[in-house]
Amino acid sequence: MSAGQELEVRVLAARWEADGVISLQLARTDGGQLPPWEPGAHVEVVLPSGRIRHYSLCGDRGDPYTYTVAVLREPAGRGGSAEVHDTALVGGELVIRGPRNHFPLRPAGAYVLVAGGIGVTPILSMARELTARGADWRLQYGGRSLESMAFLPELDKLACAADAPVDVRPQDRAGLLPLEEIVRAAPAGAAIYGCGPAAMLDALRAAASRVRPELEVHFELFTAGTAEPGEGGAPDRHARPFTVVLAQTGETVEVADGTTILEAVRDVVPDVPYSCEEGFCGTCCTKVLGGTPVHRDTVLDDGERAAGDTMMICVGSCSAAELVLDL
Ligand code: FES
Repeated sequence: MSAGQELEVRVLAARWEADGVISLQLARTDGGQLPPWEPGAHVEVVLPSGRIRHYSLCGDRGDPYTYTVAVLREPAGRGGSAEVHDTALVGGELVIRGPRNHFPLRPAGAYVLVAGGIGVTPILSMARELTARGADWRLQYGGRSLESMAFLPELDKLACAADAPVDVRPQDRAGLLPLEEIVRAAPAGAAIYGCGPAAMLDALRAAASRVRPELEVHFELFTAGTAEPGEGGAPDRHARPFTVVLAQTGETVEVADGTTILEAVRDVVPDVPYSCEEGFCGTCCTKVLGGTPVHRDTVLDDGERAAGDTMMICVGSCSAAELVLDL
């Protein structure tokens, strides 16, 4: 399981943010200060059922006593978001780990923020931080409908404070975000930060490499149709079986249709490390000794993907009949 400072917290309050989206305020049960965090950071939350989910921090970084996370109800998810929405978490205690940050803001001449759905949570923290820094930023925010889009009033205030262009596009009225146009219009020296469903991020990266390959693109996946990293949709539940050879034990594992490598390997290596099962925490990173991995994670960069010698086995698969892993 993933590392990180473990803390007991109480849910102080839950707040409606948009259709299907609530935010939770968390404070330490002992009243102490919470660890500081940077925009883009997330915490791992152990729900009362034992389910582990990851939520971006989206509250006020200046408040050392409270974390805020937002959770989208995902009817087709694996139960974590329903548990948060349906159970009386307020007043209850949870264990959290972290914060960790795989999506940090890096120095750039300007920032183009692109949010899809609940992917707005880390983007909101970034907009707040960039406003405080007096940085040049702009935001494109797409969602299913206006009613489903969280944090619009706060984004509006930030836009006014920073004189930053914020384009809000509810898909039912305005269609999908015009990603190619957005990339084309990015100022010279800008970095693009995207967070949302896989299809949006794939299209964003493709648009950037097509029309502005010189721009840096940073992204964090919130899986298709889901609110939270941790509510799965990303794993490559490939349509054909293949074999995984575990080099350390010599065992062979069949990865059947519709299962992940991690699920198959866990049957013979029960203590194989993993956490998010969504390809973004890096816990299940495994050395590849043979075969060609197909990557579906958001941990490896393009160079690491091309090298093909490591992979996230919770979401990746293989393009041939056999894969050899250092397990
Ligand atoms: S378990 Fe998080 S990347 Fe695989």
